Amino acid sequence: MHGTVLMLLKRYVQTQYDHSTWLKLMELSGLENVEFDHKTVYPDENIYALVGQAAEMTGLSAGELHEKFGEYLVPDLMFMYQKYVQPEWKTLDMIEHTELTMHKQVRREHPENSPPVLNVKRLGENELIIDYVSPRRMSGLAVGIVRGLATYFDEADRIDVMPTTSHDGERVRIHVRRT
Ligand code: HEM
Repeated sequence: MHGTVLMLLKRYVQTQYDHSTWLKLMELSGLENVEFDHKTVYPDENIYALVGQAAEMTGLSAGELHEKFGEYLVPDLMFMYQKYVQPEWKTLDMIEHTELTMHKQVRREHPENSPPVLNVKRLGENELIIDYVSPRRMSGLAVGIVRGLATYFDEADRIDVMPTTSHDGERVRIHVRRT
C-alpha cells in the first residue's frame, strides 16, 4: 500500500483519538519500529493488521473503519493530485474519471502501486454505478471516498451511495445517485 495512505492513517488516528492510541496500534500490529514515509510501498499486511487491531480496540467493523477513513482521505488526495482535476467536475464526474486520471497516475508513480480497478458506468447526469475490483476487499474505503468527494464538492446532502452487492468481496457494485 502507498505510503501516503499509511501516513494519512497515522494522522487520522492521531487526530480522531490521540498519539498514544497510534503507538498502541503499531505495537499491537507488530510494527513498533516502522516509520511510514510517502515514497515507500508497504506490504498490504501492514494496513490489514492496523485496521484489524483498530476494529478490536473500537468495536467497529473493518468496513465501518474503512468508510470513515476513506471520507477523511479525500481533501489530502485531492490536494496532492489536483492537477488532474478539471474545474467543472463535481462528485460524479470525479468518480467517472478517477480510473483514467488519479489512479492511472498512481500506477505510473511506482510499479508496485495497485489502486483498485474502478469500472464506472454513467447512467445519466445524476446516476452511476461503480464496479470495484480489488483483492484487498476494501470497498468500504470506496464508499467513504465517495462521501468525502460529495463533501469536497459541496454536494453532501444530495449524494446517495449504496453498495448493492456483499460489501466485503473482491468485486463490489456501488450505486451512486444525486438527488
Ligand atoms: C479523488 C481522487 C483519488 C485519488 C488521488 C486516489 C488515490 C489513491 C491511492 C494513492 C491509493 C493507494 C493505492 C496503492 O497503494 O496501491 C488508492 C487506493 C484506493 N482507492 Fe483511490 N484515489 C482517488 C479516488 C478514488 C475513488 C473515487 C474511489 C472509489 C470510489 C477510490 C477507491 C480506492 C480504494 C478502495 C483504494 C484502496 C485500495 C484497494 O481497495 O485496493 N479512489 N487511491
